[in-house]
Amino acid sequence: MVSTVSPRLAALSELPYADLLVTAPGRVNLIGEHVDYNQGVVMPVAINKRVWLALKSIPEPLLKISTCNLEESVEISLDDLDAKIDVNGNPLPLWSLYPAAVAWVLRAQAYPLKGIQAVIASDLPMRAGLSSSAAIECAFALAFQNMNGWGMERMQMAQLCQQAENHYIGVDCGLMDQFAVLHGVARYALYFDTRTLEWQPIPMPLDTVLVIANTGKKRELARSAYNQRQQECRQAVLELGKHDPNIHALRDISLPEFSQYSALIDPLLAKRARHVIEEIDRVQQAAISLMEDDSTHLGALMKAGHYSLRDLYEVSTPELDFLVETAYTLQGCVGARLTGAGFGGCTVNLVLKSRVQSFCEQLKESYKKKFSIELETYLCQADRGAYVEKNEETVNSH
Ligand code: GLA
Repeated sequence: MVSTVSPRLAALSELPYADLLVTAPGRVNLIGEHVDYNQGVVMPVAINKRVWLALKSIPEPLLKISTCNLEESVEISLDDLDAKIDVNGNPLPLWSLYPAAVAWVLRAQAYPLKGIQAVIASDLPMRAGLSSSAAIECAFALAFQNMNGWGMERMQMAQLCQQAENHYIGVDCGLMDQFAVLHGVARYALYFDTRTLEWQPIPMPLDTVLVIANTGKKRELARSAYNQRQQECRQAVLELGKHDPNIHALRDISLPEFSQYSALIDPLLAKRARHVIEEIDRVQQAAISLMEDDSTHLGALMKAGHYSLRDLYEVSTPELDFLVETAYTLQGCVGARLTGAGFGGCTVNLVLKSRVQSFCEQLKESYKKKFSIELETYLCQADRGAYVEKNEETVNSH
């Protein structure tokens, strides 16, 4: 059952004597797709669709977690995280692998962890490419930190959550999602260099709204072509490295240099590498466009980015392509492209505030005509990253 009350209240009403409330946002990526695992630059935005956790400590060494949205619950022994089973020996449901993964990675690094009871509620669509998994991971990491009294920098926390996803869940993701979830700034996009870990917030254009359009096609990231794309990038680096030993990542190669070597490597790998190298250049240009409030150029870069994901990286779908093509025919559209890994999920649209209603209506109408699917659109703003709220009522009643 999807709750009609806010996820914050839903979580709290399931666990009225919670000690803590933690919330973490989802994210969209304005531009810079499939470059974070190539040490490139990205430009995500944390959004005001969030996961909420209500938590309290328990004496047993267990994670007792339930979810309001799915109405499921699970009990996991903190001493048996490797096995990915619940206390009754059943395989863990997918959603519960994320908290287990974070606990597992923290334990592996000798961070003390006490047992918890937790309730998850969310208005962030799951498996739609909006980083619900990173939001759950980061929310639990913050919660564990708070409840166990140790501290760590947010960047380190993002990296730990990424490791949890890489090694426990088996998705070779980059750092972008966990970074954005933990570093979001209200009203700002985040220009993030995944090599140096430096980042800079850049104001979103004042007169625009982020419209996220959900194709309704769920993604199966872990088992999809995502890991294969990573492998192809690694292979491209190996091949390019034969011509220039200074190439250790696709980030290391400039566009003119790539033009010299591209014909010498496997054509499929050359396509993948060209996307990454050109996309990194587009992100750098997009950052300047945003700072100069040049929406026309930003929109053109977003469009070029989408075509590259469609034609060179081959991670788009007919639904995503249709939504992007249609968006650019509508009044008020500044830019549109698929966001996240692709293979389904959502498009991100930057739309003039004054036109947002007609934009959404027309996009929905066209989508329904073409695919007979009701399109969900979410009007979003850039929002702050994950944070903790002490539950005053509980604190006061002790
Ligand atoms: C997923 C991954 C990110 C990133 C994007 C594609 O969201 O989790 O690390 O690679 O895909 O840009």
